[in-house]
Amino acid sequence: MNIIVVAAECAPWSKTGGLGDVAGALPKALARRGHRVMVVAPRYGIYKEAWETGIRKVYNVSGQDMEVGYFHVYVDEVDFVFIDSPLFHSWSNQIYGGSREDVLTRMVLLCKAAVEVPWHVPCGGVCYGDGNLVFVANDWHTALLPVYLQAYYHDNGLMPFARSILVIHNIAHQGRGPLADFNRLGLPDHYISKFQLYDPIGGEHMNVFMAGLLTAHRIVAVSHGYARECQTQEGGWGLDWVIRENSWKLRGVVNGIDDIEWNPELDAFLNNEGYTNYSLESFEVGKANCKAALQKELGLPIRADVPLLGFIGRLDYQKGVDIIAQAMPWMMDKDLQLVMLGSGRSDLENMLHSFEHQYQDKVRGWVGFSVKTAHRITAGVDILLMPSRFEPCGLNQLYAMRYGTVPVVHAVGGLRDTVHPFDPFTEQGLGWTFDKAEVSGLIHALGNAIWTFRDFKDSWRGIQKRGMSQNLSWDHAAQQYEEVLLAAKYQW
Ligand code: GLC
Repeated sequence: MNIIVVAAECAPWSKTGGLGDVAGALPKALARRGHRVMVVAPRYGIYKEAWETGIRKVYNVSGQDMEVGYFHVYVDEVDFVFIDSPLFHSWSNQIYGGSREDVLTRMVLLCKAAVEVPWHVPCGGVCYGDGNLVFVANDWHTALLPVYLQAYYHDNGLMPFARSILVIHNIAHQGRGPLADFNRLGLPDHYISKFQLYDPIGGEHMNVFMAGLLTAHRIVAVSHGYARECQTQEGGWGLDWVIRENSWKLRGVVNGIDDIEWNPELDAFLNNEGYTNYSLESFEVGKANCKAALQKELGLPIRADVPLLGFIGRLDYQKGVDIIAQAMPWMMDKDLQLVMLGSGRSDLENMLHSFEHQYQDKVRGWVGFSVKTAHRITAGVDILLMPSRFEPCGLNQLYAMRYGTVPVVHAVGGLRDTVHPFDPFTEQGLGWTFDKAEVSGLIHALGNAIWTFRDFKDSWRGIQKRGMSQNLSWDHAAQQYEEVLLAAKYQW
């Protein structure tokens, strides 16, 4: 098949979260299965390996003509095409920054340009013919792509055979705006019905995600659990009924991980300053080294016997940082250490600083984001906390298990799909889970984890080994995507 993945971010060039990782890694796994794969994303900055093609086109966005260029690089059998416009450059540090209108304008430009890329940008000298072509759009940012495909290339026979799928990474962000914003999209008037929604959250409004869900030939949610939760009132954020009505075309596929980047044997952040690479065979020594190196780097007492806990993620309501905060008095009463890395809401950032100040020999709060530190925490801690209120897939628990770090998670979305709870009777399972995103659940699960870490060392090693032995690579997910893409291809 010819597959074109379109996303607002794509690692390693641009990334604010898991979406960027997926857009960088899934295409390569699809290419390994023999497909011809292209990724289209904005060019937010100078990407030195990508060359200017010299091709330029003009698109009308909100009544204004805008010229775009195309940069191209071929990596691991995937054509990466970056849409170039001053509109994207100005937001290189904050790719979803600016007013609602600004963001919408950028996404309209991205989708309008992306849908025509198969015609205008001949990769390896050949254009992607529409006969076998499926677009993969991601989240609300590119949910307009299936709609443009339908309205301008399908209805009038220009690309009658091209199909689209839309992947839900997070349904909480939907591209909501006043209904009048529909006029900025440049669609035929009758398309308004696909965008027009009335609900108690937004009153009467325009909803970009809804239009994409209605129009795409297939929908993927990033885990089985999330595919279910999106259809509930609690998890659908007002679009649950749309997803329920379209559940015939919905499928849950758990993300994979890039097992070259996230591999304790090869990890370039673990070969200096006391950190060492390790494999399944050498993980006990390797993790002990990494733990000591991390404690040293953070200025915490260097002790192997104390459980070292970690949290990595956005500081916001979704990630349940406030639940960790509520557990703080309980935790600080115990002999343990905690390191938290992330940025987000300023009150939560301040809270991290004040915890560090208050418990200097136990807690470190690192406000900001650093890929290197994320890798080192993943390797160096014993336990990773993920009390997310909702988590469509979650990647950090997968990285943790790959590194022999034991996850303690709220059993929701992809966390429930991937972290099978430890059962001391059968000695099976991968970590601890709790059923309600509440402090009592976290304390209970964490208490059991710490107890096992201290007093049942064989069980602990068993959990670590099982976690590390899993095949979490993208190959399995890519196979399931292939089935969805095929279903879309034959969908009329
Ligand atoms: C979003 C979700 C996260 C998921 C990621 C990649 O960031 O919040 O759970 O892992 O997308 O699909």
